[in-house]
Amino acid sequence: MRALLIEEYGGPEVLKIGRRPLPEPGPGELRVRVIAAGLQPVDAALRRGFFAQGGAFTSRLPVTPGNEFSGLVDRVGEGIGHFRHGEAVLGWTLLNACAEYVVVPAAQLLHKPSILSWDEAAALSASGQTAHTALEALALKRGETLLVHGAAGGVGSMAVQLARARGLRVIGTASTRNHDYLRVLGAEPVEYGAGLLERLRAMAPQGIDAALDAAGGQALYVSVELVRQRRRIVTLVDFIKAELFGVQAVRSQRSAARLAELLQLQAQGQLRVHVSGRYPLEDAAAAHREIETGHVRGKLVLRIGREP
Ligand SMILES: NC(=O)c1ccc[n+]([C@@H]2O[C@H](COP(=O)([O-])OP(=O)(O)OC[C@H]3O[C@@H](n4cnc5c(N)ncnc54)[C@H](OP(=O)(O)O)[C@@H]3O)[C@@H](O)[C@H]2O)c1
Repeated sequence: MRALLIEEYGGPEVLKIGRRPLPEPGPGELRVRVIAAGLQPVDAALRRGFFAQGGAFTSRLPVTPGNEFSGLVDRVGEGIGHFRHGEAVLGWTLLNACAEYVVVPAAQLLHKPSILSWDEAAALSASGQTAHTALEALALKRGETLLVHGAAGGVGSMAVQLARARGLRVIGTASTRNHDYLRVLGAEPVEYGAGLLERLRAMAPQGIDAALDAAGGQALYVSVELVRQRRRIVTLVDFIKAELFGVQAVRSQRSAARLAELLQLQAQGQLRVHVSGRYPLEDAAAAHREIETGHVRGKLVLRIGREP
């Protein structure tokens, strides 16, 4: 099968399309013919060699990136009763989604609702579940005020909508170019950079109950000034400062139940996956360049296989 390959660490130019053996599903697994794969900053970090010495996992070359996908069930392993050949699915994996076929345990797949496009379905499983995990860690209550740093990105866009669905007031940081976008998602936008703390004090004179850092940089410095309880600050980005400040460092916890909840919210019109760019597999390097600008709105996807 054709797959995106990283054979040496480096810039976007190291991404090549090569051939890998067609993976066979074992008991409890399925093979999916991938139609689209969602992209994340972690794909670029993998390509640069960030995980070569360990971390969340240790990467070995050659490696195929990609953690989330949509596609069609192509082969069903032993012991699986609830998926059939040809059904539309979405799911997640650690690596390997940017290929014509991916094999995953059945517990990492859900049926794709027909109202969700292939691109939207491909881009939901990773960032959506990260946002959901982070909000859970913040133990939010209806009526509270949440600050989301990086609100226009993949995780931030989902976090804003999930928090609004729970009845929170949400203030989101973004450049002015994204302020109308944030308003559509239901957040009150504020520009990051110099003066952010003062702007936030003016917007929420009664204080901010909780903060989610999906941006890094100044986010934690500002958050500790505004949020009374440190455990009500979560960073997804800066694990070193998290320890320094005594705030929570959170890693995405994925499960079928979590993804099912996101699909339910999507069906109720409370969660929209905003895909701002889509690239063919052959242009993966261009997609990585865009991810590495740090200014993607919503999500990017790679188109890999034909739609049925
Ligand atoms: N811990 C975990 O398990 C986990 C999981 C997923 C992601 N992450 C991390 O979480 C972060 C966000 O991920 P993502 O997928 O949402 O990234 P992303 O989609 O690439 O984020 C891009 C967004 O960041 C905004 N941005 C850039 N600089 C900013 C700043 N200084 N302040 C506020 N917003 C800023 C941009 O808005 P403008 O264009 O308006 O500037 C853009 O919309 C990344 O660092 C990622 O590695 C961690």
